[in-house]
Amino acid sequence: MDNLGRAILLSVALTSLAHAQVIDTSASRSIWDAVYTEAQAARGEFAYEGACSYCHGYRLDGAADDPDMRSSPPLARAKFLRNWEGRSLAVLYELTRTTMPEDNPGSLSEQEFIDVIAYMLSVSNVPAGEKELRLDLESLAGIAIQQSP
Ligand code: HEC
Repeated sequence: MDNLGRAILLSVALTSLAHAQVIDTSASRSIWDAVYTEAQAARGEFAYEGACSYCHGYRLDGAADDPDMRSSPPLARAKFLRNWEGRSLAVLYELTRTTMPEDNPGSLSEQEFIDVIAYMLSVSNVPAGEKELRLDLESLAGIAIQQSP
């Protein structure tokens, strides 16, 4: 991608981040409140393996599966949760949807992005529940990322 393309993408991402942060203060639940389902995480795993793992690793630890790819941030477990502490799933979703996969941003459907986030929670040992994570920014903004319940 050329520099102009990157600049445009970045400004789109920042605008939606700013928007998500405005509604961020309303977070009334956390990721520990059974916010996704096992079935959703399984769909997310499928999408992740096709579109993300060659950079972020099959263990979601940032060690690329493809040796030609530089390392990337972890997408699960303690370090990931610590990096994202206090931000909402809306911010995570918007950042991911607008900037990832890094070599082809936005190439997944919105549903696939939200399913991948469910998979990231599941690998982080966050418990699943009866209801899927919904594709709704306001609802996602109400769910805070926390390191522990
Ligand atoms: C071509 C390599 C590549 C692919 C494919 C890729 N990523 Fe990334 N990703 C990166 C890199 C590199 C960064 C760090 C970007 C930066 O900080 O400038 C990153 C950052 C991220 C972040 C921010 C992490 C943080 O804590 O800051 C998330 C979330 C993310 N990627 C999710 C995904 C998801 C989900 C997919 C699949 C849909 C994906 N990425 C596919 C390379 C990739």
